Amino acid sequence: MALNFKCVYIIVVALAITSAVDKGNFKSCEQSSFCRRLRNAKPQDADFVLNLDTLHVSDNAVEAELRNEEAEATFKFVLTSLHGNIFRVFIDEEKPLHSRYQVDGALNGELQVAKLEVLERDKEKVVVRSGDNKAVITAEPIRIEFFKNDVLVAVVNDKGLFNMEHLRPKASEGEGEAEHTKEDPGAWEENFKSHHDSKPRGPEAVGVDVTFPGALRIYGLPEHADKLALRTTQSGGLDPYRLYNLDVFEYEVDSTMALYGAIPVVYAHSDKNTVGAFWHNAAETWVDIGNSKDTNVVSSIVNLVSGHQPENTVDAHFMSESGVFDLFILMGPTPKDTVRQYASLTGVAPLPQYFALGYHQCRWNYNDEDDVINVVDNFDTNDLPVDVMWLDIEYTDGKKYFTWDPIKFAHPNAMISNLTSVGRKLVVIIDPHIKREGGYFLHEECLANDYYVKNKDGHVYEGWCWPGSSSYPDLLDPKVQDYYKGLYSLDKFHGTTSDVHIWNDMNEPSVFNGPEVTMPKDCKHYGNWEHRHIHNIYGLLYTKITYDGLIERSPDRRPFILTRSHFAGSQRYAAVWTGDNDAQWPHLQASFPMCLSEALGGMSFCGADVGGFFHNPDTELLQRWYQTGIWLPFYRAHAHIDTRRREPYLFAEDVRMRIRNALRLRYALLPLWYTLFREHETTGEPVIRPLFYVFPNDPNVVDVDNELLVGDRILARPVTEAGVSSVSVYLPGGANEFWYDVEDFKQYQGTGVITIPVTLDKNPAFYRGGSIIPRKDRPRRSSSLTHHDPYTLYIALDSNKSASGTLYIDDGQSFNYRNKKYLYLNFEFKDNTLTSSLIDKTDYPTDAWIERVVILGPPAGINKAKLNSKSLGTVSLETSYDGENRSLTVRKPGVNIREPFTLKLH
Ligand code: GLC
Repeated sequence: MALNFKCVYIIVVALAITSAVDKGNFKSCEQSSFCRRLRNAKPQDADFVLNLDTLHVSDNAVEAELRNEEAEATFKFVLTSLHGNIFRVFIDEEKPLHSRYQVDGALNGELQVAKLEVLERDKEKVVVRSGDNKAVITAEPIRIEFFKNDVLVAVVNDKGLFNMEHLRPKASEGEGEAEHTKEDPGAWEENFKSHHDSKPRGPEAVGVDVTFPGALRIYGLPEHADKLALRTTQSGGLDPYRLYNLDVFEYEVDSTMALYGAIPVVYAHSDKNTVGAFWHNAAETWVDIGNSKDTNVVSSIVNLVSGHQPENTVDAHFMSESGVFDLFILMGPTPKDTVRQYASLTGVAPLPQYFALGYHQCRWNYNDEDDVINVVDNFDTNDLPVDVMWLDIEYTDGKKYFTWDPIKFAHPNAMISNLTSVGRKLVVIIDPHIKREGGYFLHEECLANDYYVKNKDGHVYEGWCWPGSSSYPDLLDPKVQDYYKGLYSLDKFHGTTSDVHIWNDMNEPSVFNGPEVTMPKDCKHYGNWEHRHIHNIYGLLYTKITYDGLIERSPDRRPFILTRSHFAGSQRYAAVWTGDNDAQWPHLQASFPMCLSEALGGMSFCGADVGGFFHNPDTELLQRWYQTGIWLPFYRAHAHIDTRRREPYLFAEDVRMRIRNALRLRYALLPLWYTLFREHETTGEPVIRPLFYVFPNDPNVVDVDNELLVGDRILARPVTEAGVSSVSVYLPGGANEFWYDVEDFKQYQGTGVITIPVTLDKNPAFYRGGSIIPRKDRPRRSSSLTHHDPYTLYIALDSNKSASGTLYIDDGQSFNYRNKKYLYLNFEFKDNTLTSSLIDKTDYPTDAWIERVVILGPPAGINKAKLNSKSLGTVSLETSYDGENRSLTVRKPGVNIREPFTLKLH
């Protein structure tokens, strides 16, 4: 009886603290008729044949007619070779009844083509080569094999699931409808029923499977609250990964359900090869994943018994509701190459302002101006650094964006200058739904100028969001883009300054009373496109407009924008966060794989609400969240309006101290974060990296997603489990790879799993041997106050007693760095000598100097150091080992950071 009572009690408590998504609000693949059709199709249900008699070859592309006899449809097939080891396969209908939508806005400008030559051709196939990449195109049925250095790495339509549904023009519309209705009653639900123009649209889904022979795992497809390595969904009882930007209330982790963002790129990886596929489509998309490790258990056993190595493979079946067929194959061969190839298509994040990498304090909502100032004062009196205060929707006058609440925020200028006097910034929220209220300038101007999205009947669409009845700007319309940009100008958005930055939320778009909490698919946009065709780029367009608006407003300030909805290419405009997570341990754990997946999808600037958005974290979870959050590029605490206040100064001193320590470590490492963001901008490499990215040849790391690498210099494995006294850490690289605990400098070898004892104070992280980490170790109230502070260089030696590392410095806010006003330094340590040199011939005047050099795993017997530089000449410096000889400190080198120097230990 006692036990029963206890069980009931536990269940009641569990129900009280857990909440779950209402899955009934969102479609499954079975409920989405095009997904059902494409997923359940048998190989070659649709027969597509290339007519190689029509083959046309140019310097960079081959083209031919593609026929589907059964549908009496002709398509144009084009395979192009692009600069940087990329192939593009593009297919569109020759004479469509309606044009298919081709995504505009994801690609970063014109693509550069590369030379391609035909090696072989006959009626059955054509073989082309570009550099060390080869493509073998088979005609019947269409199938393309891709080879890197003569190794088969990807096969398009291997399983024969290629399809482009096509509506035959019929004499009578009814005939067409009846035919399809009989085959699949749902087939028309998406398109046909909603038509209102003269010609009906029919099912026009598009899909294909891509197999990656030899691959061990497949990654990508953000945004999902799931593991980093994509799970098998085919025949695994799981829905395919869904890409359809949605506002999912109380989303669950370990789920393939759609979330706020959609980036249709995958990376298939093995210890030998990495290859990617970018499915360039903005309509609702599902991706079915197969991993041979899950599906080939029987054949693996047979192979093992027979002594054969089982052949690994993964595959992805892309299924979209509409659009042209536009698939990029990223030929690798390493994770770095493949991610950079994706960046060459969709662009990189421009260097953010320095402050944006500091700590952001948000809550829904700070009540009024006094509250904002008071929070900052409390941070100051408690020695807690903070760079940015945030205002959620309640700052507005009745949820009318671009206005201020006349009572609670009556003096925004005074509040803002209070923040900016110590270099702090303000971020305010601007959502796309527009309150339908007479007298509201924005609504009236949008109505008067016909700027709103229309419903299927051609009237202004009305939905329900925070303000109540709302309409939505038609972001596809260039007039609307121009107009909306202008709203950010300082004379329109009164009270703002160039230190006010923007948070774009609810831009999926979220519509509380819409189907699946979004806009109906039959709404109409500029160009007569239905919403269904462009849904996944609505948020991308919104942030592009914000970016352009902020540049127009303050041309010499790099904009900071946070967005919830995103698509391929969003990295060019905004940072992203993982939306409305929950103050539960699994959500803390999910923050790493979610942001790592985003980083592979180009969105390095990613974070999760520290503390968890919904509910109240206990102090252990809150502290762990602060400690974990420092390892993600975007570091912001945020909380739901119904939660208790949880600014870190509200807690007991021991908690405050741990949070302070976490914040200070984040701030000390800002020079490294900033350098990595600059390197991301120039190379496309992600700022945070999964282990497989840096150690591609180690098959043991393919599932590790509770660790990440900051660049390739720090490995972080924060504690994300409750009540533990130790954690396991996988240290990669082998016996010759050294790792140094960032706190006590203890040295480890990269020989696999180690166990680290932890207390609440411990946040396990390791410097990688062979790297030099620039830090600013003086605690300050905000990042701008560290601008003139001296640097400490941490030199983590590898097994050859050498190390190297870069440091990037500029004014931290303007675009002057694009006119060579920056310093990009290389530090090299070998033969007991540290050398600093300029990588680029540029300059940036700074008074920051080098305060200390700390060498980890130092050589023995060093007594002194000698510094040599042009302005200082030769200077003799003191050195000292710590108690356990784990580190050697060289005190006060004193040289200005921009001056080349050598520092010799002896
Ligand atoms: C959405 C956002 C959340 C914000 C809230 C109110 O739920 O995801 O961060 O606080 O809207 O604007």
